[in-house]
Amino acid sequence: MKIAATGKELRKLLAGTKSKIGPRVLVPTMGALHAGHLALMAKAREIAGAEGTVVVSIFVNPIQFNRADDLAAYPRPMEADLAACQTAGVDVVFTPEAASMYFPDRSITVTENLLSQELCGATRPGHFDGVCTVVLKLFLLTGCDAAIFGEKDAQQLAIIRRMVRDLDVQVEIIGHPTIREQDGLAMSSRNVRLTPAQRADAPKIHQALQAAKNSGSRDALEILRIARKGLESSGIDRTDYLSLVDAETLQPITSVQGPALLATAVFYGEIRLIDHVTL
Ligand code: PAJ
Repeated sequence: MKIAATGKELRKLLAGTKSKIGPRVLVPTMGALHAGHLALMAKAREIAGAEGTVVVSIFVNPIQFNRADDLAAYPRPMEADLAACQTAGVDVVFTPEAASMYFPDRSITVTENLLSQELCGATRPGHFDGVCTVVLKLFLLTGCDAAIFGEKDAQQLAIIRRMVRDLDVQVEIIGHPTIREQDGLAMSSRNVRLTPAQRADAPKIHQALQAAKNSGSRDALEILRIARKGLESSGIDRTDYLSLVDAETLQPITSVQGPALLATAVFYGEIRLIDHVTL
């Protein structure tokens, strides 16, 4: 496994893999790797095959954070992350510093104007512009053929698909199903910050969404009512949003006629967790 700390180093390393006949597959991450990330890496290895190249980026992207304290508190266990990449059979890890990714006077940003207004975007202005900008840069820096993203961040995945479509980016976007704990809680680097009582309660989030899905109803009001009831029986402190949206455009719908997402973001204290089910 090779490690590149700057774009220049990365280009040099990847030039050495040019003779490889298999695809170059990228898994973008912010580190603090858990089983969800590892599943994406295993998938990348499978797609790249022995003849291809798996590239993982580990970069806590400052321009997608709204709050400086949130950015500062983001865990950065670099040694453990590199060991995990090694075990996962990754070929190249890209670990840039913010100063090597962004010019102090940078003035170009990728902006998405529709899907990013809903769900997580409503309370995190600029977040998805930061995500789109860094992801496009990572695509260009790595020259990847394909990139893998988790379905857990359904809005992020939908927006990246839209970016690739609208800007003719020649990268195949592959979604990977959400990896969950045995009790159904979606894996997240934030789960370890829950108290034991909150951790024991947290599977109720997915159960609430699942109950609404299993009701078989197609009516938004009814689906949201059942999900809200489930969330109210949990110990969450508040709900950021609970929405039923079209799976592609992320616009709210009144009844389920095609693929839809029932998505929520909730708080236990300061800890924000997201989850969704597809209908
Ligand atoms: P990060 O939160 O580190 O997530 C990296 C990738 O892992 C994302 O595609 C995310 O959807 C996926 N992932 C996280 N938890 C998962 C789970 N439980 N099951 C399946 N996949 C999971 O998302 C980001 O970083 C950043 O926004 C990034 C795309 C790297 C841009 O900075």
